Amino acid sequence: MSKTIAVIGATGAQGGSVARAFLKLDGWKVRAITRNTASDNAKKLASEGAEVVSANADDEASLVKAFEGATAAFVVTNYWEHLFSGNTPDESGVKEAEQAKKLARAASKTSSLEHYIWSTLPGAKAQTNGKFAVPHLDYKAEVDDWIRSDLPDLHAKTTYLVLGFYPNNFANFPNLKPFELPGSYGKWVQILPTPASAVIPVSGDINITPGVWVRQIIAKPELTKGKYVDISPEILSFGEMLKQYGEVTGRQTAYIQASAEDFTNVWGVAGKEMADQLVFGEQFKDGWGSVSSITKEDLGIKDDEWPGFKQTLESLKDQL
Ligand SMILES: NC(=O)c1ccc[n+]([C@@H]2O[C@H](COP(=O)([O-])OP(=O)(O)OC[C@H]3O[C@@H](n4cnc5c(N)ncnc54)[C@H](OP(=O)(O)O)[C@@H]3O)[C@@H](O)[C@H]2O)c1
Repeated sequence: MSKTIAVIGATGAQGGSVARAFLKLDGWKVRAITRNTASDNAKKLASEGAEVVSANADDEASLVKAFEGATAAFVVTNYWEHLFSGNTPDESGVKEAEQAKKLARAASKTSSLEHYIWSTLPGAKAQTNGKFAVPHLDYKAEVDDWIRSDLPDLHAKTTYLVLGFYPNNFANFPNLKPFELPGSYGKWVQILPTPASAVIPVSGDINITPGVWVRQIIAKPELTKGKYVDISPEILSFGEMLKQYGEVTGRQTAYIQASAEDFTNVWGVAGKEMADQLVFGEQFKDGWGSVSSITKEDLGIKDDEWPGFKQTLESLKDQL
């Protein structure tokens, strides 16, 4: 009999890659959970063979129903949707954590569930004794602590998944996407509040890597339950990423370091959130996001399964 993976975020980047990976996997069915079963992405998932059901992370009862009978669940929350809807950084974090707790409580009530995969991030406060605060990291990390203390049975079947920086941000994240500077005779610039030499763990193609990793995490429960797993197969500097962007697009590029204050003046709260993350990240010589010792080799992931930064940009060329 086939098993079912319930996927929150299946119409988006992380969850979409998980849904597509399991649709290809023998012995598995995919239950794609969305607020809007009539959206184009939801209809596409249905046409590819997913069972598409409606539920909302604000509504715990709807989640309990949507998880019913599932063997595995992948869940992600979207901090940025709260921030871009006009909430302050802390209000966004509170809303994100409330949703994450509803998801975890619903999972803990699902008797069939064997493996829970929660897409989190390592806290800035926790790693620096409170010196740095980055809400889109900290509120997720506090949910990890809460699962461990309040839902120990769920913790025993949870893998805490930590995604690196998406290469895809170069195509679609407003304050990260390079742009042509008027009057510069064709220079494409990226203005960021961190030195070009600062490094960050990078996730590989976000439309592919979470699916590959989650497939292997579920295939190796003895290694991954109750543990953190990173998806950061590359660690790159911002200068190196812009150089590779120039090679892929054939454009002349220039990296400009702005102060956190100037970046916030231009981009508002979303700028402050990004600046806080990047300035915090400078504390770590090899990137801030790698918290797991479980490697892709331990998981049995082959190198031709994860498109890296440059290969991802090649595939996104028409959106750059
Ligand atoms: N950008 C980066 O470099 C990066 C790196 C690491 C981690 N992250 C984290 O990634 C997260 C975003 O994940 P993503 O990129 O996969 O997002 P995404 O592509 O924007 O997709 C968001 C998904 O969440 C679902 N969703 C949102 N609110 C929901 C709700 N109330 N109930 C049920 N489903 C809901 C949406 O489904 P429907 O709209 O269909 O309901 C959609 O499928 C953020 O929290 C961010 O901090 C980002």
